Amino acid sequence: MITQQTIQQILSRIDIVEIVGGFVRLKKRGANYMGLCPFHNEKSPSFTVSPVKEIYKCFGCGRSGNAISFLMEHEKYSYVEALRWLANKYNVEVEETEISVEQKQQNQVAESLYIINGFAQKYFSDVLLNKEEGQDIALSYLKHRGFNENIINKFQLGYCLEEKDAFAKTALAAQYNSEFLQKSGLVIVRDDKTFDNYRGRIIFPIHNQTGKVIGFGARIIKTNDRAPKYINTPENEIYIKSKILYGSYFARQAIDKNDECLLVEGYTDVISLHQAGIENVVASGGTSLTTDQLRLVKKYTNNLTIIYDGDSAGVKAALRGLDMALEEGLNVKLVLIPDKEDPDSYVNKVGADAFRNFIADNKKDFILFQLEVSLKDAGTDSTKKATVVNQVAETIAKINKAEDFTKQQDYIRQCSQLLKIEETGLHTLVNKFIRERISKQENKLQAEEIKIFDDQQTENSFADDESFNLLFKDEMHERAMVRSLIEFGLKEWDEKNKVADYIFGESIDHDMIDNKKLVRILQTYKNWYDEGMEPTSKTFLYQEDQELSTLVVSIMDFPYEISPNWKEHFEGKINTREDLYKEEVFSTLNYLKLRKIKRLIDENQKDLEKNHSAEEQIMLIETHQHLKNMERDLVHNLGTVIVK
Ligand code: UTP
Ligand code: MN
Repeated sequence: MITQQTIQQILSRIDIVEIVGGFVRLKKRGANYMGLCPFHNEKSPSFTVSPVKEIYKCFGCGRSGNAISFLMEHEKYSYVEALRWLANKYNVEVEETEISVEQKQQNQVAESLYIINGFAQKYFSDVLLNKEEGQDIALSYLKHRGFNENIINKFQLGYCLEEKDAFAKTALAAQYNSEFLQKSGLVIVRDDKTFDNYRGRIIFPIHNQTGKVIGFGARIIKTNDRAPKYINTPENEIYIKSKILYGSYFARQAIDKNDECLLVEGYTDVISLHQAGIENVVASGGTSLTTDQLRLVKKYTNNLTIIYDGDSAGVKAALRGLDMALEEGLNVKLVLIPDKEDPDSYVNKVGADAFRNFIADNKKDFILFQLEVSLKDAGTDSTKKATVVNQVAETIAKINKAEDFTKQQDYIRQCSQLLKIEETGLHTLVNKFIRERISKQENKLQAEEIKIFDDQQTENSFADDESFNLLFKDEMHERAMVRSLIEFGLKEWDEKNKVADYIFGESIDHDMIDNKKLVRILQTYKNWYDEGMEPTSKTFLYQEDQELSTLVVSIMDFPYEISPNWKEHFEGKINTREDLYKEEVFSTLNYLKLRKIKRLIDENQKDLEKNHSAEEQIMLIETHQHLKNMERDLVHNLGTVIVK
């Protein structure tokens, strides 16, 4: 882990204009800088960078964040990668904290596996290219299939001799550890004897994003009914199947450039397409796609085109994973290769240009494709057809990104035509699934917020009179409260206390703030403050939890500047919020207190309306009096401040 000190050093040097400006042409406009948004297509600039607030926001697509989230989003860096990039840019030396013993051990295992795989890859390539058996059996096989030497070298293909332990002997003689050799899947140990696992097979090394070999696929050459066609590396510290897309290391730039990722099934499909000059292609290995794999694609493009052979079991497998692709916001297209060919044989048969044209002309939208297949299955059976309608509505409902709204509408139109049903009917059904999903969603924050909204409308009579307006006003005060804390928390309140002490001393707590997100910010501030840290907006902006950081950005962006009372009474004067921070804190806090008291009075009132013993009755009336006094004091306080 990077030390806190290093992080602080990096943060103190961040200049968001310089960083964003390295990727986007920015022009100064007033206090801000503007440019064309790098996250969506636009002709006139709505992407704004504020050097003062150290944030950016696009008023077109709504993306916003800080320098680090910009790098994460634009360069697809992780949080740590972004920090390293910045450290490098600003010449900050990166100090790392001690890692745990287990972590160290795991790193060592991973490191050893990388080294062994690197060694094995070179060994197998050497055998393929320079040893007689390699040349005669494997190289001639590959050449016969149409692979040239360039491509064989690029993908670092190799061959494992038929002899039972040729590789094992070499590796052990070179002092490679037997345990790690087994873990890597390159050898197996039986009765104390070590054997090569990939005997007589072509070796396809599998690379990670940085080009290191993480494992192998080994294809049999001679047809043999009893042996599997491919043997793959077993799961280990570096080979995690669900996260691997074969070829991604060689394809990343082309995917970026074409803004499209082609997905095929096999190793040989990837290599043949590369050889034909079609380089934006990766392989899934014929299993259904995982969320991790889809996210890997999404790092580079939103457009995924799946190319499978028509009758392969892989099509069904791939389709299974695709609802997830929609949730990830990917546009998924499907192309089936005809006549029992696969992409490898087809591109060899028709050539690169014809292949490209075929893909372009035959791309089918995944949702429509799925619908056609299911409709064909259902035939004239009306129950089955009803199921299909439900399924397609559920699928469409999964398109959940706000910016994809038009896409969703298009689907509803096209699918209702295919299904020969009313568009409005399908619309209603889709909405039903959306509502269901939202209420189920693991995104609890969102669900909670909706719930709060409902509670306020139905249960809370304080909000009854002008509920909508008030809700909004309440929200503004809550935001103002949290914002004052972040901005002014470390300023002096009185001789002994800082503003933060005052706010937390006034026991600002969960039932004073409705919005759960704001409560979370408040809680985080308090934890940091209690630990002796001095939190500022920067502390929020640059900590690892990007969700929290975005929340803070959204508060700081809120167009509401001064609490409404202040605006009325100080309009025209030059006093800024900075000058008036005590009053701002005081009045917003009092507003929230007043709201709480009013709610308590309300509850008490309701209680009074029920049947009680005389004693209880008296107690409730006393409580009522007490609350009313508090309310009066608060109103009085607010008044004196306002007219001061
Ligand atoms: P294919 O059978 O289509 O193989 O399996 P292929 O890659 O096209 O190979 P050639 O062209 O016949 O030589 C597609 C993918 O499924 C995985 C491999 O990743 C393969 O590339 N697979 C297949 C296995 O992992 N094990 C197997 O036994 C078969
Ligand atoms: Mn094939």
